Amino acid sequence: MLPYGRQSIDEEDIEAVVAVLRGDWLTTGPAVTAFEEAIAEACGASRAVSCTSGTAALHIAYSAMQLGPGDEVVTTPMTFVATASGASLVGADIVFADIEEDTALLDPAAVDAVVTDRTRVIAAVDYAGHPADYDALQPIADRVGALTLADAAHSVGGTDRGRPVGSLADVTTLSFFPTKNLTTGEGGALVCRDPELARRAHEFHFIGLVRDEERFAIPDQGPWHQEVHELGLNYRLTDVASALGLAQLRRLQGFKRRRAEIVARYNAAFATVAGLRTPPRRDDVDPAWHLYPVRVLDGRRREVFEAMRARGIGVQVNYLPVYWHPVYAAMGYRRGMCPNAEAFYAEELSLPLFPDLTDTQVDEVIGTLTDVLG
Ligand SMILES: Cc1ncc(COP(=O)(O)O)c(C=O)c1O
Repeated sequence: MLPYGRQSIDEEDIEAVVAVLRGDWLTTGPAVTAFEEAIAEACGASRAVSCTSGTAALHIAYSAMQLGPGDEVVTTPMTFVATASGASLVGADIVFADIEEDTALLDPAAVDAVVTDRTRVIAAVDYAGHPADYDALQPIADRVGALTLADAAHSVGGTDRGRPVGSLADVTTLSFFPTKNLTTGEGGALVCRDPELARRAHEFHFIGLVRDEERFAIPDQGPWHQEVHELGLNYRLTDVASALGLAQLRRLQGFKRRRAEIVARYNAAFATVAGLRTPPRRDDVDPAWHLYPVRVLDGRRREVFEAMRARGIGVQVNYLPVYWHPVYAAMGYRRGMCPNAEAFYAEELSLPLFPDLTDTQVDEVIGTLTDVLG
């Protein structure tokens, strides 16, 4: 089965990992620091906090923002559940705003209609690798005293009017799962504008340990001393994973170029195929395409999904609207609340997209899909 996503690992990636295994630090060492510095640079940020997954990055972000019961997070239903569940875990209420009909990105007009004085965060998702419209979302957030969060699990390496993903929102979270634009196996990171928020994020992902003498509440203990002011978890990324991430980051722009070539090949081939709608792109953005989400019209998505899988093409569907998950349905969210997201879900099909996909394989996907559509 041709997968819909897959990592690309070369000899330099392997050597980078082996070098760490031969060294002194398996975790909390220099590879973690080097990877965090490189991520911050790639994102146009002053500091990055690495962590064990994109899900962890979201949990860290919402914790560092000190969200709790009574606070609201406005977000999109067209995402992986973690964008919302990280906020639910810290006790915040989720308010779903619909997506734009064409891009499947959080619609600023829909956000504008639901923000209140309880809104603390507007969390958008760069679905498929296409940055959301933060220039429209930020003024709405500023007006109600909220922060913007970019769930950039799909989009690291992309830009909007030349500004890198990571610099577009107050807080940005990344994922380094193997299908993503770069990988550490499991892994993630967070970058943000406010250094104080970055410090809280770092502490939360490090069990809440305070190691800065000037902030000690218990003075004069001795050089071994560290203390906890707020509860945290151990979400640290290892040096082994960080070494892989650092090597992968050097290849990110090459990965992005190859992904864009494949997207262009799909777009050109499907432009004239009836029954399909290809993904749009705003002129001012340069996406780092993670998914190729084609829309299968005429109620045929399921049939086409099954036919493609039967022919060895590992298509995927991204995503079930978040509020359809039983955990959110049990909280009282009802189907029908975001019609654009539900219409998109009914038609969406992710075709194989990863850097090592050959033109021959892309043409095989194109031929099979065209054939299946008949
Ligand atoms: C939009 C989005 N957010 C968050 C995540 C969570 O990332 P991870 O799988 O690294 O926990 C993912 C990954 O599946 C994702 O696609």
